[in-house]
Amino acid sequence: MTPSRDELRQQLRTARRQLSHDQQKHAAIALASHLPDHSLLQHASQVALYMAADGEIDPHILAEVLFARGKQIALPVMHPFNDHQLLFQRYEPGQPLLPNRYGIPEPQLAKPELIPLQELDVVLMPLVGFDDNGNRLGMGGGFYDRTLGGVEADLRPTLIGLAHSCQRVEKLYAAHWDVPLNGIATEQGLHWVER
Ligand SMILES: Nc1ncnc2c1ncn2[C@@H]1O[C@H](COP(=O)(O)OP(=O)(O)OP(=O)(O)O)[C@@H](O)[C@H]1O
Ligand SMILES: [Mg+2]
Repeated sequence: MTPSRDELRQQLRTARRQLSHDQQKHAAIALASHLPDHSLLQHASQVALYMAADGEIDPHILAEVLFARGKQIALPVMHPFNDHQLLFQRYEPGQPLLPNRYGIPEPQLAKPELIPLQELDVVLMPLVGFDDNGNRLGMGGGFYDRTLGGVEADLRPTLIGLAHSCQRVEKLYAAHWDVPLNGIATEQGLHWVER
């Protein structure tokens, strides 16, 4: 029997939390070694990423490499009024962050530091599960779906899911609100979705 979205979330979250400290470290280093050399990132000037939690692949070394190469980095910040929506704010690696209500560190909201979603070139986003068609299963809050769904598809940044390869599943069934990915980057490389 096919597991429900919630059952699948539990299985995949358990799998990624079971990765050892060494496996996590090697994955973070591998991601930071291959992704910045990809033409997508070489041509990007504003790139959003995230602070890893719950066993997610950790993009903090990647952020340092991209920042050293002159890219503007942004982090998601929870919208103060619009429930379950994200804003993206400029971030310099090492800048102080405060835990939000989910315990995820984020910059203190500062309006002049916000970058409109349409101005970002690439959004590197966390996920719980993915398939080769770019379907994405997140943590279940609908944060990325609501935020990205608010912008017409051809005005959106390039959307890349970051994941450990153990988060790949054969097929995910997308709901009508799910915003598909343009590609998935794991410790093994970047996989583009054909559309
Ligand atoms: N654009 C939207 N408008 C209204 N509700 C939405 C929208 N996108 C998602 N939702 C709601 O959010 C809930 C969670 O969505 P979903 O299960 O796809 O989360 P997710 O993709 O796993 O999470 P996230 O985007 O935070 O990583 C759904 O019950 C859905 O009703
Ligand atoms: Mg979704």
